[in-house]
Amino acid sequence: MRTHHFTGVVLGLAMAVYALPATAQNNIDGKALYEANCAMCHGKTGEVSEYGKSLKPFPARNHRAIAKLISRDELRRIITYGVKGTAMTPKKYTLDPLEIEAVIDYIQSFDYKPDLANGKKRFEAVCSSCHGMDGRAKTGVGAKNLVYSKLDLKGIVHTMRYGRPGTLMTSKRHQLSNTDIADVANYVYSLRYMANPAKGKKLYGKYCASCHATPADIKLIGNAATRRSIADIDDHQLDLRIRHGRHVDRAGKKIERLSADDIQDIMAYMRKYQN
Ligand code: HEC
Ligand code: HEC
Ligand code: HEC
Repeated sequence: MRTHHFTGVVLGLAMAVYALPATAQNNIDGKALYEANCAMCHGKTGEVSEYGKSLKPFPARNHRAIAKLISRDELRRIITYGVKGTAMTPKKYTLDPLEIEAVIDYIQSFDYKPDLANGKKRFEAVCSSCHGMDGRAKTGVGAKNLVYSKLDLKGIVHTMRYGRPGTLMTSKRHQLSNTDIADVANYVYSLRYMANPAKGKKLYGKYCASCHATPADIKLIGNAATRRSIADIDDHQLDLRIRHGRHVDRAGKKIERLSADDIQDIMAYMRKYQN
């Protein structure tokens, strides 16, 4: 019984923390806690101190460029439990949970203006061999097309930090500094194709409507028989189905002239019709 009661209190606290920054709510000075417990390695301004740079096996890392681009959950986990085998020891013995929230608020308040020119340079050096100079991944190694990625900035940063286990996409954390990661992530985001549903509507009228009056009339075929509608498949699969030879045989060669970006526009329009 007592354990249950205790869990309730802790959950209640955790929820209160989400409602308001811990600092504001509890008058905990995140800045002072940061300066006393973290600045010696991570630097007072969030840019690594000389001492932090000298640490083995890995130096401390810049917070200014990246703390805003890492989820609160992840920061909480790293700060609470540390990073095994490095000078980043667990802080749960020196800071209580609310103090940790206050420190997170503080490091996420640092400002950083990404340097897109540096992002481009590093992207071309470190990523283009797989993702292509233009990010469209026409390199034949199965890398993702970053121009059509759905990831937000945090998702891009997360993928760069941890990689995708079991694929060629390895962690870039020790190959790139945190400022490089922030710059590359912003550069990758800037390459994104912003699909235009209004243009898609026109293209649909010209290339599709003669057979499928509206996107809602389209029936999936073949091994998609178990899927009820286009709502059940993602853009990548939908694009394949439109441009697949089997569909081109039915729909006519005109479909082959549509560019990859045209299909993105058409799909953005089609998505408005899904249930
Ligand atoms: C004795 C030096 C030292 C102190 C003090 C220290 N850290 Fe660290 N910290 C490190 C090192 C070294 C790393 C890099 C570990 C690695 O390479 O994975 C790190 C990594 C981190 C990371 C992950 C950063 C990233 O980009 O991956 C966070 C977040 C972090 N520290 C927060 C804190 C906070 C908050 C405090 C104070 C409460 C603190 N650290 C105190 C040395 C320190
Ligand atoms: C050795 C080849 C290789 C290199 C170099 C590489 N990647 Fe990747 N990347 C991949 C592969 C393969 C995937 C697909 C992983 C999967 O199947 O989930 C991927 C996936 C991604 C994704 C996920 C996209 C999405 O929408 O899911 C991002 C973001 C990404 N890479 C960014 C980068 C950045 C930035 C760099 C350079 C710092 C980089 N990659 C370097 C091979 C590479
Ligand atoms: C000349 C007729 C014709 C035109 C034009 C046409 N389609 Fe189709 N499409 C078909 C036929 C036939 C099927 C098979 C399913 C059916 O009978 O409804 C089909 C199936 C599809 C499917 C499901 C494919 C699958 O593998 O499940 C999609 C998605 C689709 N069309 C999208 C489009 C889009 C988008 C356009 C315009 C860019 C288009 N179609 C133009 C005739 C056409």
